[in-house]
Amino acid sequence: MYLPDLMKCEDGSPVLSPAQWEKRRKELLHVLETEQYGIQPRYHGKTRGEITDVLTPCCAGHAQLEKIQITFETPGGPFSFPLLFFCPSDHQPRPLILFINFRPDAYDPYFPAEEIIDHGFALAVFCYTDITSDDGNMKKGLAGLYARSHPETDWGKLSMWAFGASRALDYLLTRQEVDRRSVAVAGHSRLGKAALLCGALDERVRFTFANCSGCGGDALEQTKHPGAEDYAFMARTFPYWFCGNRNQYIDPAVPRPYDQHFLLAAIAPRYVAVGSAQEDTWADPFSAQLCCAAASPAWTIHGLPGFVGPQAPAQVNTAYGDGCIGYHLRDGVHFFSRQDWLRYMAFAKKHMAE
Ligand code: GCU
Repeated sequence: MYLPDLMKCEDGSPVLSPAQWEKRRKELLHVLETEQYGIQPRYHGKTRGEITDVLTPCCAGHAQLEKIQITFETPGGPFSFPLLFFCPSDHQPRPLILFINFRPDAYDPYFPAEEIIDHGFALAVFCYTDITSDDGNMKKGLAGLYARSHPETDWGKLSMWAFGASRALDYLLTRQEVDRRSVAVAGHSRLGKAALLCGALDERVRFTFANCSGCGGDALEQTKHPGAEDYAFMARTFPYWFCGNRNQYIDPAVPRPYDQHFLLAAIAPRYVAVGSAQEDTWADPFSAQLCCAAASPAWTIHGLPGFVGPQAPAQVNTAYGDGCIGYHLRDGVHFFSRQDWLRYMAFAKKHMAE
């Protein structure tokens, strides 16, 4: 197995200190953006949130559900999208989970809102297609508001969804109900990939939760097991999730200058927890676990534990959450289950005070 060296800078020098890590992290983000996800515009503008509706009580009276319209500037004019905010009724600061979802609904099988509130979190949710459609149309939604003149490196849709999460955070971080030091971004599957990218790029995110994110997310490409999604399938089926440069690596004979451990490592020294489902061979649970192990040196250089767990495949229904990279494997299929949420919340609670 050939894995590009995480701890060696492009000039060949080894990364031996947290200061050198900062330089290396920028290199990792650069290679991930220019060769895989496309370059995300850096945003320095103002983001506004307008509360358009408040439903109270919700979650047994422990929260009120606010509908908020988020607006920010783009080169093509202002862009708006709806955000749901389950705001704790006592209006006290809470750790926040921002969940990027597939659907716009307030009640949805992928997030147990009441349980999340009862665990002491505030919860915000938006629907990814309210940012931009999940297809090759680069004219609709946010995609259409930015020039696209460099197909090799123009941002793909995963990066746009991650950008939407960052703009939601711009607003949420102004809310008194949000503890700014304990902000998490979560997503499942393709949106787990987007959550990882958001966590890697946006240093305000303290916890990244990527559920069943697989290929192009938490699964190492070099270790793929039978039945797992591979680079070529993904490039053929979802080319618009990425930038054009990624296509040059479809041929496995062409060495890739990165693998997915770069993405996890770019989150260091903040926290990331990934979860897999035993029957989800498409996402490749063991390659996700190996990715956690391969990313660990990015934390050890800070004197912190990375992935603390076995080298052999994880025990099913077990979480390895002692280090800064959490991993759990649950039984069942590709889904964002209540079991997964309980693992992620336990991981955040365990590390929040550190
Ligand atoms: C497809 C795709 C995966 C993706 C998944 C999803 O199966 O191949 O990469 O994670 O959709 O988002 O549900």
